[in-house]
Amino acid sequence: MDSITLATPDDWHLHLRDGAAMAAVVGHSARQFGRAVIMPNLKPPVTTVAAALQYRSRILSALPENECFEPLMALYLTDATPVEEVRRAAETPEIIGYKLYPAGATTHSESGVTNIENIPRALEAMERYGVPLLIHGEVTDTEVDIFDREARFIESVLDPLLVRRFPELRVVLEHVTTKEGVAFVQSCGPRVGATITAHHLLYNRNALLAGGIRPHHYCLPVLKRESHRLALVAAATSGDAHFFLGTDSAPHPQSQKESACGCAGCYTAYTAMELYALTFERAGALHMLERFASHNGADFYGRPRNGGTLTLSRTQWQVPETLPLGSERLVPAMAGETLSWRASRRTC
Ligand code: NCD
Ligand code: ZN
Repeated sequence: MDSITLATPDDWHLHLRDGAAMAAVVGHSARQFGRAVIMPNLKPPVTTVAAALQYRSRILSALPENECFEPLMALYLTDATPVEEVRRAAETPEIIGYKLYPAGATTHSESGVTNIENIPRALEAMERYGVPLLIHGEVTDTEVDIFDREARFIESVLDPLLVRRFPELRVVLEHVTTKEGVAFVQSCGPRVGATITAHHLLYNRNALLAGGIRPHHYCLPVLKRESHRLALVAAATSGDAHFFLGTDSAPHPQSQKESACGCAGCYTAYTAMELYALTFERAGALHMLERFASHNGADFYGRPRNGGTLTLSRTQWQVPETLPLGSERLVPAMAGETLSWRASRRTC
């Protein structure tokens, strides 16, 4: 097979930042994806519909002309999110849902939710108005081992305090990284889904820690052991409608990644569909890529599937060592390596 053509895929989890950094990266996503869920962890965080719509116009103005790319904005949930704002979000089609960051869990999560027990009214409102809750699923207790934080979150928060307590709430376990996460999502009905990143499909924690520390493989949730990676590959390639593509591509300046205390985040947007194609091909499941990348997410969110197409061609090409990021540089996933698929043509 020398090429594959898919219905245009969507990225259901993306960090674009703002200003010059955003302008430097947004075209990479627009080249491959029809829509992307834009994460709200800016400084200050995007907590209101009004702020999200302004951010959205800045993204659209930074795009090259004729680019057909639709940003779907996530709002940042805080301890103080008013019910009225949830209602406004429900009435605004450009808003996809609320993002729950447990305070302290990841990059720019300081304003996140300190305790689920603080936000029953906002959660009830999301359930009532049909606003999805997108979840960074890790506990933040410092005594819990970092490799166990997702599994602990599922048993102590996601299952008892969110999914059971709010039986109609639509929930996405973002960037699921464990077999416990996969099994939990599979055990739920169609109102619960999960995104899976390309880097968690490709790498286990050896890629981060064996033979030298590789900061460009450091992200949150952190890469796990091989048995978890295999569970993610099985879920993504199975066609199961619970699972869909979300890169969690997160640009950071090279200087802040290659540091004594480096930032969490992998920049996969430049090579996103190529990396997913690589994983699906290795699993003998290229024929399942379209469901995962182009169908399941749209179906979950009740949005139409994209009308256009994306063609991936079998070509050897080398990923650049760095890319511009405003006044700094960025190291993309697989920098300097040769890939065998190339996203070559997208129609709107
Ligand atoms: C993300 C970022 O840099 O904004 N980092 C990451 O490691 N994934 C935040 C997040 O999604 O956790
Ligand atoms: Zn993220």
